[in-house]
Amino acid sequence: MPSTRSIEVLATAADLFHAAAEEFVRTARAAIGAQGRFAVALSGGSTPKGLYSLLAANYAEFAWNRVFLFFGDERHVPPTDPDSNYRMVHESLLTKIAIPAENVFRVPAENPDAAAAASDYETQLRRFFELRPEIRPGDRPGEFPRFDLILLGLGPDGHTASLFPDSSALDEQSRLVVANWVAKLSTFRITFTFPVLNRAAEVMFMASGADKAGMLHQVLEGKSIPPLPSQRVQPSDGNLLWMLDEAAAAKLTR
Ligand code: 6PG
Repeated sequence: MPSTRSIEVLATAADLFHAAAEEFVRTARAAIGAQGRFAVALSGGSTPKGLYSLLAANYAEFAWNRVFLFFGDERHVPPTDPDSNYRMVHESLLTKIAIPAENVFRVPAENPDAAAAASDYETQLRRFFELRPEIRPGDRPGEFPRFDLILLGLGPDGHTASLFPDSSALDEQSRLVVANWVAKLSTFRITFTFPVLNRAAEVMFMASGADKAGMLHQVLEGKSIPPLPSQRVQPSDGNLLWMLDEAAAAKLTR
């Protein structure tokens, strides 16, 4: 169960991004104060662009050298591809802040072998978090990296990161990062698994716009069998925070 579960509704998308930027910086300052560094996994898609641009504009002087940026998921494309989450983050944030290149952990999604890209990224996580080098088949699930913050979005089908309904990655309990075949998109995605998401000290979902209202009602107030992927994000020892604007929250009843 999450330590805390809260929903914040802001009037507009701009207000949402301001509140999310403040929460990002609050958790960053707390982590840097406590352990000298802030390990955060960014979400992709379009919504978080507003947050990343605001961080670049208002917090360019932040101690980015103490921040270590990862990606909760990535499309199976090169970093120059318009669909690349890395490209979106690079353009909206990385080109505008003084973060050391070695603090940014990019998914090597240009590798034509998606499973190899996922395995490579898992090795990067294991090394950074000083976990044992690899899980061998039959191993008990090992320890999992504890991110200080993981940002997530909500897809129209209830997916989050690249954990899509009816996809094989939903059942992964040992690996940190997997290549997930998404049938409806006819493509692989590289994604964190639920054990990593649910080990985070804090997960912050952001959802904006009327097109998210129906699914948000289903996710936050409905009972889907099986549960939707975004309903399965329940940090076992961390905070779960939903940052919404009024348009996205319009169908919530409480
Ligand atoms: C991705 C994201 C994905 C996203 C949702 C919502 O790689 O696309 O990780 O999970 O967060 O699809 O996307 P929007 O914010 O663009 O609506």
